[in-house]
Amino acid sequence: MKIAIIGSGNIGGNLGLHWAQAGHEVLFSSRHPEQLQDLVRQTDDKAKAVSVAEAFEANADVYLLATPFWAIDELAEVYAGEFGGKVLIDATNPYPERDGKMAQEVKDSNRNASEYTALKFSTALTAKAFNTIYADHLKERAFRDSDKLAIPFAAQSTKAQEVARQLIEDIGFDAIFIGDLSKTHIMDPDQKIYGKSTNAAGLRKMIGR
Ligand SMILES: NC(=O)c1ccc[n+]([C@@H]2O[C@H](COP(=O)([O-])OP(=O)(O)OC[C@H]3O[C@@H](n4cnc5c(N)ncnc54)[C@H](OP(=O)(O)O)[C@@H]3O)[C@@H](O)[C@H]2O)c1
Repeated sequence: MKIAIIGSGNIGGNLGLHWAQAGHEVLFSSRHPEQLQDLVRQTDDKAKAVSVAEAFEANADVYLLATPFWAIDELAEVYAGEFGGKVLIDATNPYPERDGKMAQEVKDSNRNASEYTALKFSTALTAKAFNTIYADHLKERAFRDSDKLAIPFAAQSTKAQEVARQLIEDIGFDAIFIGDLSKTHIMDPDQKIYGKSTNAAGLRKMIGR
């Protein structure tokens, strides 16, 4: 798949490296693509570093959103119309101390963070994944044949569900489907399965399956 990474830091950078290793075509982007050359080198120049505009215009199969939560508003304002049914995997988390008033408003609302993203990027098929795992675990515990970590994910459509599952499994994690985006409260910061590094059996137990 062609995957455009929007925000190539701890989460987007490591996921892009993993997906490139798994054979996917990866575009890293940020507001400073010239700073992403080291990531490109780590893929033996198989991936590319591009501007955010170029990433959105690349007609990728999948977009990974891995910016600070506050950036959702400005990114959606410019690019939300461009998805045309493409899958958007949202790895962001609202932290009012970092992201300001809009994150506090989302936390105080009766909407999950993933539903906020889906509302903003209304032409995309939104999935939520990779927001509950520590960046270090994402980096170091991928591509395991056994003792795999489980990644919980949610999606609002069958296509987004299938794509998210494949991209989780392609890099050696077990994918555990939580439900549609209305079920993702347990994945939000400080909630039941947030920051819990466990295997599939452990995660299923936590969510009562
Ligand atoms: N760190 C973790 O353990 C962890 C775990 C799970 C989920 N998350 C969530 O994942 C998201 C990313 O976290 P992170 O730790 O990867 O952050 P990070 O290392 O600071 O990376 C953020 C990336 O987003 C880019 N960026 C910032 N503002 C942008 C904008 N307006 N438009 C486009 N790109 C922008 C940054 O590059 P430029 O500044 O050069 O644009 C950088 O590449 C956050 O929402 C975080 O809560 C983090």
